[in-house]
Amino acid sequence: MTIAREWWKNATVYQIWPASYKDSNGDGVGDIPGIISTLDYLKDLGVDVIWCSPMYDSPQDDMGYDISDYEKVYPEYGTNEDMQTLIDETHKRGMKLILDLVINHTSSEHVWFKESRSSKTNSKRDWYIWKPPKFDADGNRHPPNNWGSFFSGSAWEYDELTGEYYLRLFARTQPDLNWENEVTRKAIYDSAMKFWLDRGIDGFRIDTAGLYSKDQKFPDASIVCPDEEFQMSFQNTNNGPRIHEFHKEMYSNVTSNYDAMTVGEVGFCSREDSLKYVSAKEQEMNMIFLFDTITVGREGGDTFGYKDWTLTDFKRAIQKDTTFIEGTDAWSTVFIENHDQPRSVTRFGGIKYASQSAKLITLLESTLTGTLFIYQGQEIGMENLPRSWSIDEYKDINTINYYKKFKEKYGNDSDFKEKEEKLMDIINLVARDNSRSPVQWNSSTNGGFTSGTPWTRVNDNYRTINVASQIDDPNSVLSFWKKSIQIRKQYQDLLIFGTFKILDFENENVFTYIKEDEKNGLRKAYVVLNFSNNSVKFEKLIGGEFELLHCNVGDVDESILSPYEGRLYIVD
Ligand code: NOJ
Repeated sequence: MTIAREWWKNATVYQIWPASYKDSNGDGVGDIPGIISTLDYLKDLGVDVIWCSPMYDSPQDDMGYDISDYEKVYPEYGTNEDMQTLIDETHKRGMKLILDLVINHTSSEHVWFKESRSSKTNSKRDWYIWKPPKFDADGNRHPPNNWGSFFSGSAWEYDELTGEYYLRLFARTQPDLNWENEVTRKAIYDSAMKFWLDRGIDGFRIDTAGLYSKDQKFPDASIVCPDEEFQMSFQNTNNGPRIHEFHKEMYSNVTSNYDAMTVGEVGFCSREDSLKYVSAKEQEMNMIFLFDTITVGREGGDTFGYKDWTLTDFKRAIQKDTTFIEGTDAWSTVFIENHDQPRSVTRFGGIKYASQSAKLITLLESTLTGTLFIYQGQEIGMENLPRSWSIDEYKDINTINYYKKFKEKYGNDSDFKEKEEKLMDIINLVARDNSRSPVQWNSSTNGGFTSGTPWTRVNDNYRTINVASQIDDPNSVLSFWKKSIQIRKQYQDLLIFGTFKILDFENENVFTYIKEDEKNGLRKAYVVLNFSNNSVKFEKLIGGEFELLHCNVGDVDESILSPYEGRLYIVD
């Protein structure tokens, strides 16, 4: 099938998480003028689209994913005028700008919620999801059902004022909007979407795009974690009964009128369900983020559940996330980092071979089919926080809530210290805080992120890992990224649009795959990636003329792959 090649398909998208990107005024918090000052750097890297994570007014309980005013910029980040300058300056350089669209919930400080909460008869009462308590035989009050929050505890919050609970799948200050109400949906489209599209933005990354349609019977979720009082509610809240109707409405009422790019965070989805969101003929979203790859080794249901991973698990996940569109009119994404994930070099690479494995992951990412997303700092191989840091350095509500609950549960155990160390190992490996430390621009104090006191600690390794030290070094991770993006574009028929086939699947050290162009089946891209600490034998698994196009080591020994060595061949 020939698929249309809209502008967002071969784009390289760069995600900016404003608080930790670049501070221009010394208050310790990244800001919009700081972003503007780096636009030439991004253009030079090869970025086509900037995705700016929430920059809206917010109490910042969940770092801006708790929005109190869609139409106003968070004052510490700047003003609406600064945003307009960012839009214009981005466009001047031939790049586009998309924003985060957080519309499953607002902050409890949003005026809509304040009204909704004020009385049972308020005209906005039904804009959020309110339910009466349940009482047991002894008259004790309980939440309406057993749904758990993604951030620990119940997903329901009791509000004394009117004696009812509101649903909040995330923090207690993030009440879920009621998408069943048509008036609410219209207000969301106008305030959160059209307001910014009319100012020139080019689309949205749509937060929690699978969660808007809840099972209206609000049944108890099935018990997956028997030790826990509250259970994940996925089967009752994710990909719910009206979700596609809502996305179709959003498309026809809003995004289709602006040629907007849309990428939805959906997470977990079968092939069939994924295609309902992103098949072009469905007219919903352009593409989605699936989580199979980034959650390899994680245990479902427990935020900090971790059981380690194998290379074949990783291959299987990548296969699922990239091939579900083959033979269809749908499109997909390529990403391995974002503000909710740890640094890929620590999580999937070998930290002993940090620079080499950062480049190996770059080779992987830049040769997979779909729109490519890079997260700030990934281009210089930023790493997770040092293991020696204590829990006090962690700022994310998700980490903090989990740790508190853990301490409540095990704090008096004689082996608490041991248990705590184990938990800290996992937190240090997978917590969201790992990607939220400030971008390391140079080797000056605080990595050049701020001239003041940073709101969160800069990774101690900023003196060696930073943009300034890499920018003119042809062997740096940054230069490797730049070259990889160029090659990706140059060979886009194979690398961006090609089909994907894994060879020697069972190999636990080496990941080999070929990319083919359906229209020109003779020429192939052949990618071989050694994901191990050992040197391994290299054998060509297909016939043909091999031309080495790109590689992450200086001296290539044809027959041996050194630890974390990766190569891209063109085979004719
Ligand atoms: C997904 C976002 O990526 C995450 O950072 C946020 O905490 C939740 N949605 C809630 O908005």
